[in-house]
Amino acid sequence: MQHYRPQEIRNFQDTVWNHFANHRREMPWRKPSPSGYFDPYKITVSEIMLQQTQVERVKPKFNEFMAKFPTAEALATSSLSDVLVAWNGLGYNRRAKYLWLAAQCIVSEYGGVFPRDSEALQKMPGIGPNTAAAICAYAYDMPVIFLETNIRTVIIHLFFADQTNVKDTDILAIVKLTIPAKNIREWYWALMDYGSFLKSTIGNKSRQAKSYTKQSTFRGSKRQLRGMILRTLQKGPLRTEQLQSITNDDRLSATCDELARDGLVHFENDQYVLG
Ligand code: ADE
Repeated sequence: MQHYRPQEIRNFQDTVWNHFANHRREMPWRKPSPSGYFDPYKITVSEIMLQQTQVERVKPKFNEFMAKFPTAEALATSSLSDVLVAWNGLGYNRRAKYLWLAAQCIVSEYGGVFPRDSEALQKMPGIGPNTAAAICAYAYDMPVIFLETNIRTVIIHLFFADQTNVKDTDILAIVKLTIPAKNIREWYWALMDYGSFLKSTIGNKSRQAKSYTKQSTFRGSKRQLRGMILRTLQKGPLRTEQLQSITNDDRLSATCDELARDGLVHFENDQYVLG
């Protein structure tokens, strides 16, 4: 890897911190309890919601979700269909099921107390290495190294500006090199906010990352059809013909099969049922 002088690293940190000092964004999951505690359950819910959904869309859903399921235990003991109803509007509904399963795992394996290590968190459904590390940074202020789209944007902008196909291992090496000695939680918030600012001003630099995948177009997609089926079933079970007349889509039966395989719906008494 290219060598960077300590001054270059400090300049990078100053840029990120300065932006944060002037344009820090408030988000409900960034507020600690009155005693200064960051609840790892809340952080986990927010991180899973934020995986493929934008902050502004997540904010109101997060607050509603917390009012309905204030603890891992409350979530674990709810029905999947209640969780899917609360997820409505966030898309990528498999995440709701994973989160529900993860809450059950927290309750059954850890007595409802989140483990304080990334390895253990990664064993939970729907929590990959980056999400596990993000939880450790935001909940526990741990000096973990991870990637996320805003982080990629910042590092590419300031370290790989004229390159394409930038490898994640190279970006991670910079994350590791530039992480400050303290205030890890705020450092990652600051990277997020700066990355989001860069995207809104100069465009999405994470396109220059080798790992970049564009979110597929929603209109007319199977993702949209899946969402429509789940939303329709929230009002009650329906037979295939009824669903067909509502959706009027020849991919209906294959998509229902897929939703059943994902465990988001099941077939009972000739009807599709949510959960
Ligand atoms: N703050 C904490 N986690 C975040 C995320 N994933 N995206 C944006 N802001 C965040």
